[in-house]
Amino acid sequence: MVARRLFRYILPHYKLLMVSVFFGVLVAGTDAATAYLVKPVLDDIMIARNEQLLILLPIGIILLFIIKGICTFVQQYTVKVVGQLVVQDIRNQLYRHMLDLSLRFFQERSTGALMSRSLNDIDIMRGAIAKAAIVIIKDTLTVILLLALIFYQSWQLAILAFVVMPLTYFPVRAISRRIRKYTRFAQAKIADLSQTLQETFSGIKVIKAFGLEPQMTDHFRQTNQRYFSFTRKAIKGGSAASPTVELFTGFGIAITIWYGGTLVVQGTMTTGELFSFMAALAMLYKPIKQLLALYATLQASFGAAERVFDVLDTEPEISEPQSPVEVPLPIHEVAFQGVHFAYDSHELVLEDINLRAGRNEVVALVGMSGGGKTTLVSLLARFYDVTRGSITINGVDVRQIGRQQLSKLISFVDQETILFNQSIRYNLQCGNASASEDDIWSALRSANADVFVSNLPEGIDTVIGDRGIRLSGGQRQRICLARAIVKDAPVLILDEATSALDNESEALVQEALNNLMQNRTTFVIAHRLSTITHANQILVLDKGRIVERGTHQELLQYDGVYRRYYAMQFSQTHTEKDVVSTGDSQV
Ligand SMILES: Nc1ncnc2c1ncn2[C@@H]1O[C@H](COP(=O)(O)OP(=O)(O)OP(=O)(O)O)[C@@H](O)[C@H]1O
Ligand SMILES: [Mg+2]
Repeated sequence: MVARRLFRYILPHYKLLMVSVFFGVLVAGTDAATAYLVKPVLDDIMIARNEQLLILLPIGIILLFIIKGICTFVQQYTVKVVGQLVVQDIRNQLYRHMLDLSLRFFQERSTGALMSRSLNDIDIMRGAIAKAAIVIIKDTLTVILLLALIFYQSWQLAILAFVVMPLTYFPVRAISRRIRKYTRFAQAKIADLSQTLQETFSGIKVIKAFGLEPQMTDHFRQTNQRYFSFTRKAIKGGSAASPTVELFTGFGIAITIWYGGTLVVQGTMTTGELFSFMAALAMLYKPIKQLLALYATLQASFGAAERVFDVLDTEPEISEPQSPVEVPLPIHEVAFQGVHFAYDSHELVLEDINLRAGRNEVVALVGMSGGGKTTLVSLLARFYDVTRGSITINGVDVRQIGRQQLSKLISFVDQETILFNQSIRYNLQCGNASASEDDIWSALRSANADVFVSNLPEGIDTVIGDRGIRLSGGQRQRICLARAIVKDAPVLILDEATSALDNESEALVQEALNNLMQNRTTFVIAHRLSTITHANQILVLDKGRIVERGTHQELLQYDGVYRRYYAMQFSQTHTEKDVVSTGDSQV
């Protein structure tokens, strides 16, 4: 099954593979010829003293080895290149496929395991493909030709010598199983190691701040140790394989000497024939050993291939619609109808959400942490699909909109400020590849980021470090805002987009945002209520339900969660008694 599937990846490179097969045949032929030449060396040169052959044979042997060398080179080279080409295809396909998978897929798996799949597992596959191709082509042929020679020299002796051969199968199989088992364990540990590394590099600050170095070192050392102990068992198996095979070889040779010697003494076989036979027999064990060892290699690679195919077979949960519907522009309505949503099958995170946002409207979402605000806007961007109900843009269900168009319709400034380790220019052009230098600067100005960017050593061409590590939290946030501004999409989602800014910067950025919201449909999530007082609708989310809705004034008049929330925040920043004395400040 796995083998057949792997074969399908090899098939496109069949031309190169044929070259390899051709040269593999020649290599096998030279091996058999070498064994055959033992007979004239003994019978004609040593025994019959043929002086002409004494000159010719060594020349022939040199030629034979030159041919063999060249053929081996071409065969190995081509077959290894095929292996590389195959894994290149698989790796590209895997990467492409993983990008199509939903957020959920990545949340459920560790980064380390995914990295190990994309790098280690594929590399194991490559090793096995190359080895399999070499071994299967060359060694099988060598075995066949040498066997032919052996039977040609003396079939009785051949049968006898091979009585012991099948017996090697059992120990070799047992050893192979062991190798396979421990290789699998070792691979899992490699995944753990890469996970630890990944967490260490991305969490280095926390490690240092909490003084976790000793724990991390211990953990790493233990995982590494476990990897070692599994690998050692696999190595043990691997090292036992060849002596086991050799032991049986010894039996074969002993029997051959005994019975072959008898035949020579009786005169039914020449000395040359016997030695040619023994040479062929000796040469035979190596390719057979290779073929047997291949079993273990293939087992390991099938394991790796299964893990890779497993990812490739994961259906993207958020599927591209069969026939995408083009949303007519401009956007005049974004609506949620009876939306229910659960991350896992059991607990509803959103319940019966209904809302309608028109053009030029700002919908603000407020509520306690964990209330479902981020989840609600994630559904609009279709990071997840609703469990029940529907979300429509201009009446078209988001599930019917092609992914490319949907991503063009929505600008998302996330709670997490995720930036690439590239220049600021590159990061801003994510939203719009054709943005000009002027567009970039004007976006930076709107996001109140122009001053600090122009003070950077290389301006907008400054590379900002992994995850934007060389910028302050507020600077990162402003870059993210500028990125959304450059993108200029008709639906704008701001998930605490100004939370990392000081009051003064926030006021400045807020002004730019107010301009940006013109002619758009905007969803704003803000913990600081002062930034959303002008919203057309404010929705208060509590435990996944909309518990209050209205304008700022309406909600203040209504004695509910919002008013308490507002009073509480206001009392922290202001001390005016009249605001706090709304009578409901017990929260
Ligand atoms: N990827 C996820 N998988 C499972 N549950 C999740 C996931 N993300 C969020 N949740 C859960 O969904 C609920 C709502 O989370 P959400 O992030 O939408 O809250 P929020 O209102 O944005 O909170 P905050 O104000 O803290 O950002 C929480 O109870 C959270 O535990
Ligand atoms: Mg949130």
